[in-house]
Amino acid sequence: MSLRIGDIAPDFQAQTTEGDVSFHQWLGEKWGILFSHPADFTPVCTTELGTMAKYKPEFDKRNVKVVAISVDPIEKHNQWISDINETQHTEVNYPMIADPEREVAKLYDMIHPNASDSSTVRSVFVIGPDKKIKLTLSYPASTGRNFDELLRVVDSLQLTAQYSVATPANWKDGDDVIITLAVPDADVPARFPKGHTRVKPYLRTTPQPNK
Ligand code: BEZ
Repeated sequence: MSLRIGDIAPDFQAQTTEGDVSFHQWLGEKWGILFSHPADFTPVCTTELGTMAKYKPEFDKRNVKVVAISVDPIEKHNQWISDINETQHTEVNYPMIADPEREVAKLYDMIHPNASDSSTVRSVFVIGPDKKIKLTLSYPASTGRNFDELLRVVDSLQLTAQYSVATPANWKDGDDVIITLAVPDADVPARFPKGHTRVKPYLRTTPQPNK
C-alpha cells in the first residue's frame, strides 16, 4: 500500500555512498528528504543530483538532512558521482542509497509498474523530526524536479508546524499567511500581534509570525 501523509516513514538499513545507514537513526532529530532516481547514468537525474548538491546549504540551514536513492549498486553510484561532479560543476555532498534489490523502493512504493516495473519514478518524501511523512511528490522520469519548490514546501511545513497558520497559493517565505480556522476570532489579536485582515470569516490573513 502506498505511504500517505501522517504515516511513519518506514525504517530501513541500507548501503550508501557515505557508509551503511539505519534510516531513523541517521535522521536523528532532524527533518529529512528522501528522493528517488530512476537509474544511474541518466541525464535528468544527473542534473537533479548536481542541483541538490548546490542547494544543500539551504537545506542545512533549515535543519533538513538529504538522501538520494537509485536502484543501482554502490560501485556504479560512485562512478556516476564523478560524472555528476564533473558535468554539473559541483561536489555531491550528501549520501546516495544503493538499492539493487529494490527493497527501499518497494517499501516506499517508488516503483509504479504502469510507468516502469524496474525503475522508480521521481519520488520525494519530506519527513518530520517525529519521523512522520509530511509531504509526498511523484514525478515521471521525464520531468526533473524543482528544487526551489522543495525549499518552499519545507519553509511552509516548518512554519505551519510551529504556528496555527497555513500558507496560501504560491506563498513564499516572507509573504502573509492564513490564520487557521482552529483559532477563534477572539484569540486572534493576542496570538497574532502583528495584526490581521479579516477578508471573510473563514479567510483571515496575518504577516508571517516568525519574520
Ligand atoms: C533521466 O534521468 O534522464 C531518465 C531516467 C529514466 C528514464 C528517462 C529519463
